[in-house]
Amino acid sequence: MSLLEDLHWRYATKKMNGKKVPQDKLDYILEAARMAPSSSGLQPYKIIVISDKALLEKIKGIAWNQSQITDCSHLLVFAAWNGYNDERVSKVFNYTMDERKLPHNTMDNYKNNILSLYEPLGQEWQAHHSAKQSYISFGLAIAAAAEQKVDATPIEGFIPEKLDELLKLTGSGYKSTLLLPLGYREDENDWLVSMKKVRTPKEDFITEMTIEDAADFNEAPMEGSIGNPTKE
Ligand SMILES: Cc1cc2nc3c(=O)[nH]c(=O)nc-3n(C[C@H](O)[C@H](O)[C@H](O)COP(=O)(O)O)c2cc1C
Repeated sequence: MSLLEDLHWRYATKKMNGKKVPQDKLDYILEAARMAPSSSGLQPYKIIVISDKALLEKIKGIAWNQSQITDCSHLLVFAAWNGYNDERVSKVFNYTMDERKLPHNTMDNYKNNILSLYEPLGQEWQAHHSAKQSYISFGLAIAAAAEQKVDATPIEGFIPEKLDELLKLTGSGYKSTLLLPLGYREDENDWLVSMKKVRTPKEDFITEMTIEDAADFNEAPMEGSIGNPTKE
């Protein structure tokens, strides 16, 4: 099946049947999430995997009692950094330099630029920025699940502060952003399964533009450019 066929097959499953997702399929979905691109490659998020029924029951109670949370096989909790700082960014960059067999200071200029750009924007902006990165990983996990014929429900409907408390994320530097129950649809009890998939019509969704359609814009081009950050 092609990616497009898989995306037509998937839907935000409302009722799951409790069947277990095999470990190799779970690993595949998690690996797709891990391979997601992120701003400056920082991957400022992680995934917590939960299949413990007692814990899932507690999570359901702070997620509008959505049944997929307890009827799934595994629940993926996406959690993002609550902000950027030298320690966190350096850890990622040092690891990258180690993996590429380059000295730690190779990308110091680039790193310092990021930190000095993000710092004045404040922690709320930073938490929002890292949360946005987690959505990219989330999207790839959804696509990978569809490819594996595993159902998944994207979920934002939960109380993050309460989930953070329950999962001991509070004070850890991470905030929960999204939930993704993985499992298998229970066709006969799912109101959405046979409904037509509806998306914004292509003509409203995609716009082609030329210079004729753009504003009269006379801003001087920015000075400097983003080159090879390992050669500064
Ligand atoms: C970020 C995000 C949050 C969502 N939160 C929920 C949710 O809490 N509960 C739910 O049942 N569906 C949730 N959805 C599913 C959407 O309603 C669904 O993806 C959308 O209506 C398109 O339908 P489809 O996924 O079946 O194609 C969410 C989707 C996204 C992308």
